[in-house]
Amino acid sequence: MSKLFTAKEYIKYLIAGKSKYYIHSPFVFEFVNEVLNDKRCFYCYEEIESYRKLLRKKDSVIEIEDYGAGSQFEKKNKRSISFITKTSSAPEKYAQLLFRIVEFYNCKNLLELGTSLGITSLYLSAGNRQSCVYSIEGSKAIADEAKKTFEQFSRTNIQLTHGLFDEKLLPVLNKIKRLDFLYLDGNHRLKPTLDYFNTCLPFLHENSIVVLDDIYWSTEMMQAWIEIKKHHSVTLSIDLFRMGILFFRKDRSKEHFRLYF
Ligand SMILES: C[S@@+](CC[C@H](N)C(=O)[O-])C[C@H]1O[C@@H](n2cnc3c(N)ncnc32)[C@H](O)[C@@H]1O
Repeated sequence: MSKLFTAKEYIKYLIAGKSKYYIHSPFVFEFVNEVLNDKRCFYCYEEIESYRKLLRKKDSVIEIEDYGAGSQFEKKNKRSISFITKTSSAPEKYAQLLFRIVEFYNCKNLLELGTSLGITSLYLSAGNRQSCVYSIEGSKAIADEAKKTFEQFSRTNIQLTHGLFDEKLLPVLNKIKRLDFLYLDGNHRLKPTLDYFNTCLPFLHENSIVVLDDIYWSTEMMQAWIEIKKHHSVTLSIDLFRMGILFFRKDRSKEHFRLYF
């Protein structure tokens, strides 16, 4: 992973990014106005962010298995809760965007690949209390911490599965059957990311939404984003630099937007 690569791509994003005034698609315009730029402070924001602050101060150490492309910052197997919170969880701004997407598009069956300590799962599950959030985490110690998080928030609509994506993804998908929202946030390598997307494809439908995290984290992730957005079933892709969002609605010809966020 190269910080220089990400910095270069960020400059390109700043140059090529568009504001809402350049958007002619009504669907994307609505997305920008009602979801992306919604500045309201929803009821759950404060309680989840207070919890994040607590975790950021927690210096107890757990022994973890480092799956996927590994941490950008450290390779050791012992990490503090504070460190994991700071380096793994989606930042507040993005986690809250995911909450608004789930809320606005009324997503009911959600899947997160990579639970970590469960902060984003809390946001996803708050987006629609009628929903069920399935989340998969490979590291046992991290999954145990996430379980504590969900118990503390009494989130009975989150189903956490401990295990590797390669082993658990298909069984979980078979349980979900119809996937409304998919958040790919673990194992940031090209082939696994393409494999997870392809495994999920038969379970997606016209109104599904897929979010890929860290699309410029590495050349492999950028390649994965380029490949996936080219897929014929994807009709709209939105690049927010940190995250890429995909829509599959059939009433439109293929479009791609790079939007400031
Ligand atoms: C970036 S973190 C997830 C952050 C979380 N979505 C959030 O925003 O709070 C990625 C997680 O995926 C897990 N992971 C990575 N590769 C995995 C794999 N192949 N199978 C299962 N879990 C994996 C890691 O252990 C890590 O906790």
